[in-house]
Amino acid sequence: MCGIIGIVSRDPVAERLVDALKRLEYRGYDSAGVATIEDGRLTRLRAEGKLVNLQNKLKAEPRSGTTGIGHTRWATHGAPTEGNAHPHFSGGVGVVHNGIIENFAEIKRELAAEGVSFETQTDTEVVVQLLAKLRKEGLSHRHAMQAMLERVTGAYALAVIFEDLPATIMGARNGPPLAIGAGEGEMFLGSDAIALSPFTDEVRYLEDGDWVVLTGSDAEIMDGEGQPVDRPIIRATGKAHYVDKGNYRHFMQKEIYEQPEVLSHTLGAFVDMTTGRTKMPKGQDLDFSKIRRIALSACGTGYYAALVGRYYFERYARIPCDLDVASEFRYRESPLGDVDLAIFVSQSGETADTLASLRYAKSQGLKTAVVVNVEGSTMAREADVVLPTLAGPEIGVASTKAFTCQLMALASLAVRAGVDRGVVDADEELELTRVLAEAPRLAREAIHTEERIEALSREMATKRHALFLGRGFSFPLAMEGALKLKEISYIHAEGYAAGELKHGPIALIDDTMPVVVIAPHDRSFEKTISNVQEVAARGGEIVLLTDASGAANGPVEGSRCIVLPKMAEILTPIVYAIPLQLLAYHTAIQMGTDVDQPRNLAKSVTVE
Ligand code: F6R
Repeated sequence: MCGIIGIVSRDPVAERLVDALKRLEYRGYDSAGVATIEDGRLTRLRAEGKLVNLQNKLKAEPRSGTTGIGHTRWATHGAPTEGNAHPHFSGGVGVVHNGIIENFAEIKRELAAEGVSFETQTDTEVVVQLLAKLRKEGLSHRHAMQAMLERVTGAYALAVIFEDLPATIMGARNGPPLAIGAGEGEMFLGSDAIALSPFTDEVRYLEDGDWVVLTGSDAEIMDGEGQPVDRPIIRATGKAHYVDKGNYRHFMQKEIYEQPEVLSHTLGAFVDMTTGRTKMPKGQDLDFSKIRRIALSACGTGYYAALVGRYYFERYARIPCDLDVASEFRYRESPLGDVDLAIFVSQSGETADTLASLRYAKSQGLKTAVVVNVEGSTMAREADVVLPTLAGPEIGVASTKAFTCQLMALASLAVRAGVDRGVVDADEELELTRVLAEAPRLAREAIHTEERIEALSREMATKRHALFLGRGFSFPLAMEGALKLKEISYIHAEGYAAGELKHGPIALIDDTMPVVVIAPHDRSFEKTISNVQEVAARGGEIVLLTDASGAANGPVEGSRCIVLPKMAEILTPIVYAIPLQLLAYHTAIQMGTDVDQPRNLAKSVTVE
């Protein structure tokens, strides 16, 4: 969840380290730090809070070292203080780490018994203390690195510098990703290709167990056995200019506005737009005709996309689906019986629980597929089938465009599955893809509700709690709408299936409780409106997201309507997601929170 970076160069590196950390700040922003080697001595600058604090320190105290490492932190062990900020130093060794050293307590006890004193509460410090001790015992730099890696367990992407080995960085990976890139007489390593994008667009990812010795001209990669290995070069597409806010106030706003365009790109990967026929993305092969059951799994927003996906596969392809949050799937050891395919949904392709679930499914002999936004991510490399969402880099911590692109990929795939199974005939296929092609236009119209939503957000910002209700395709959206609101505005929100209201949550309704109801005029509309009447009868404040027919047919005393265009059912989750994103966005602005980097969160959750 943290971001790491390292540069070996002939020129000073500190400013470029901080620049790369800016691209990694989505992974954590509790504190940041850089270390360089200056005249044979390790030096560091660290600052609590956002990267800008570190930038200011660097301005006041510029560094000229040509080899350095950097870190942006999402705190796991130890409070987010400057003292716990990386890089950690001991005995001429400097370390930055993303992940969790699971046996740190045991190693710490052993080292403490030998007289080593610890300066921080972090798990990472055992890495640096261990390396310092091994060096002191006379091991070479490489042997110390190897011995340290044999001793630690858990998840790590590491970058290590030694003050007596000035033009070298060592790195290691087990779990969280670590990419290597080459420049003119300089080499880089970092948590992802976006971090390295201003320096190079060709990267190699280390595999689990790999470690690397990086000099200005070479990257020597070894596997877990210490054997030299080569890893394939991947052309990265995450160009630096993509991660610019442009004229938008926040990345989240920009990403909401990008949806019409990226939905169209994603659709193009699954549908031949000239013939209107569904297709598998380039180079991918998946035949649904013999699939008896699908297991879907993901975390957070990806999980809600997977829930919509379940509805799509069951409706359009008549394939029964199981669904689990990935942190449960990986440990539940459910009998997978007639499951033939496991589909995982992940923006980053790195989420630890989803990745572990994918590996579990593989170990059970299932075919695996991943709906993934980051090309070259670990899941994209390990799954049997890659189903790309072409949302482009998503920087705002709250997922927006990646979510709607996940829905677009899953909807197209469900239609494709229906065709493979003879459930959707050729005419229905053409009609469904024609409808899906309307998504960009409808998404644009949904964005036009912004002014009205902004006005509503002023009231929402005065509340402490909110309920979101929906039925059918709108049920997962109710949960997604609630998640969006809580994660960026910090207002407590819950999403419920509208039919569940009377089984408990209705007790919460009074005149201080806003209830956002997602109710396109579809076959569940009448039933949802009955639930809305139950809310109105108890004084709840209703915000109704519906279409013109819904607004005309379901007037509920005192409710406020956001009216969206009429659309086919398959599109409602995609288009209705947009006003929910805007509501969370504008409420957060009213509340004055940090929209793109809300407290306690990180974009890529690479720890359990
Ligand atoms: C919420 C959000 C998170 C992610 C979750 C999974 O807005 O973004 O809930 O959806 O952490 O992340 P990925 O999709 O990268 O696996």
